[in-house]
Amino acid sequence: MSRKPHVTAIYPGSFDPITNGHLDLIQRGSRTFDHLIVSILRNDAKQPLFSVEERVEMLREVVHVYPNVEVDSFDGLLVDYASARQATVLLRGIRAISDYEYELQMALMNRRLRPEIETVFMMAHEAYSFISSRLVKQVFSLGGNIAGLVPPSVEERLNTRLTKQKTA
Ligand code: PNS
Repeated sequence: MSRKPHVTAIYPGSFDPITNGHLDLIQRGSRTFDHLIVSILRNDAKQPLFSVEERVEMLREVVHVYPNVEVDSFDGLLVDYASARQATVLLRGIRAISDYEYELQMALMNRRLRPEIETVFMMAHEAYSFISSRLVKQVFSLGGNIAGLVPPSVEERLNTRLTKQKTA
C-alpha cells in the first residue's frame, strides 16, 4: 500500500510587515500542505522598517492559530534552504499580471538550480489583490487608514514605530 507523501512547503518573503494578503495565503497554504514554513529573508538589501526578529514575532503572533505553520528566517539561496528543511514546494502569491514576470523569473531560476523543488502559485484573494507591504507603509506614514489591510497587532506595531520616529 502506498502512503501519501508528507509535503512541506516554504512560503518565503520579506513580510515587512505581514499584510492580510500574506495571511490569506498562509491560511490557504496551511490547508493545502502538511507543513508550511513561512520564512523571512535575512540580509535584505531593501532597508526594512522592522528587523527580522520583529517580523518573526509579528508573524508568530498571527499564525499561532494554524498548528502546521512554522515561522523561520533564512539567508543564502532559497532552494538550498528549502532542501535543508526537506521542503519540496515553494509557495508564492500572484496578485496581478505585474507580479507574473518577476515570479516567473524566480521560479525558472529556482527550477534550474534545483529541479526537484516545485514552485506553486496561488492567486491572491481579490479583496487583497491591491495590497503590498510597501503601499501599506507609505499610506500609513502619510496618515491614511490601513484598517483591514493588516492584522490589528501589526497596525499597533506600525503606530508605535511611527510615534517613535516622530519623537526621535
Ligand atoms: O517578499 P519578496 O521580497 O518578494 O520575497 C523575495 C524572495 C525572498 C522570495 C527572494 O528575494 C528570494 O528568494 N531571495 C533569496 C535569494 C535567492 O534564492 N535568489 C535566487 C532566486 S531567483
